[in-house]
Amino acid sequence: MSSFRFMVLTACAVWVAAVPYARAQEAKTTVPATYVGSKKCQACHGGEYARFEKYSRMTRSYSDVLIMKRGLTREEYQKCLECHTTGFGKPGGFRSAKETPRMKEVGCEACHGPGSIHVQSSDPKDIKKVVSETDCQACHAGDRIKAFRFRPMLYGGAH
Ligand code: HEC
Ligand code: HEC
Ligand code: HEC
Ligand code: HEC
Repeated sequence: MSSFRFMVLTACAVWVAAVPYARAQEAKTTVPATYVGSKKCQACHGGEYARFEKYSRMTRSYSDVLIMKRGLTREEYQKCLECHTTGFGKPGGFRSAKETPRMKEVGCEACHGPGSIHVQSSDPKDIKKVVSETDCQACHAGDRIKAFRFRPMLYGGAH
């Protein structure tokens, strides 16, 4: 075998071995967090959980829509769920009351983002602490946020 062919073959072998390795590394470091539901946060944040359950209307967001389901078309009803559930249509998020009962109401992750990585690691770096007006705008119309004056609403809606 010529040394040139040998070099080409070696290079190919290294490349073939390296690509799946690189992909595995990439998958390990960049796999995005998924939604897990507020119940998972209770074990370590009992205080926030209890206050949120007791005082926030968000914990009734699904039941509120259910009350109005009669009289809505299927499309209209689906549209409601985009704002009245947690992680609608996103990995781990709400799909249906039967498949994902823990994602029914608007929960912790509506503001703090998907928590699967943080739940495993307990590392504060893996979860969003500072939430912004933009986070609320996915569901709350901008003029409504202004009418509430953003700051009091931010804390009033939390825990
Ligand atoms: C296994 C324990 C554990 C679970 C489960 C857990 N956390 Fe945490 N979390 C911690 C610890 C430890 C800290 C750092 C100390 C602290 O602030 O209490 C923390 C901090 C935080 C912070 C503050 C981050 C910062 O930058 O200071 C937020 C927000 C938070 N958690 C939200 C959540 C949410 C939402 C869930 C559920 C999806 C959750 N946590 C589930 C252990 C946990
Ligand atoms: C774009 C997001 C969004 C959609 C879509 C949406 N809602 Fe809401 N809904 C909200 C927000 C945000 C609030 C809280 C309003 C506030 O206090 O400013 C709310 C509040 C409510 C309330 C409580 C009202 C009260 O004052 O007690 C009911 C009931 C409700 N929505 C039903 C529905 C129904 C039924 C649908 C579908 C036809 C729907 N919503 C679609 C975001 C949405
Ligand atoms: C409506 C939005 C919202 C929801 C829902 C929400 N939080 Fe928060 N959370 C906040 C805000 C705002 C802060 C304060 C961040 C700051 O200090 O700037 C915060 C702070 C925290 C902190 C850091 C410690 C502290 O109290 O400052 C933890 C832990 C936390 N939240 C856990 C939870 C858990 C658990 C749930 C669900 C039971 C939850 N949050 C639901 C908005 C929310
Ligand atoms: C996934 C959609 C969603 C997101 C994101 C969201 N909210 Fe809400 N929020 C709702 C819905 C739906 C309601 C009404 C629940 C009901 O009454 O049925 C609500 C209700 C509220 C209320 C009424 C008071 C109460 O008891 O909870 C406040 C305040 C509030 N949200 C603040 C915030 C703030 C501040 C943010 C951003 C940091 C935020 N929300 C992000 C969907 C959302």
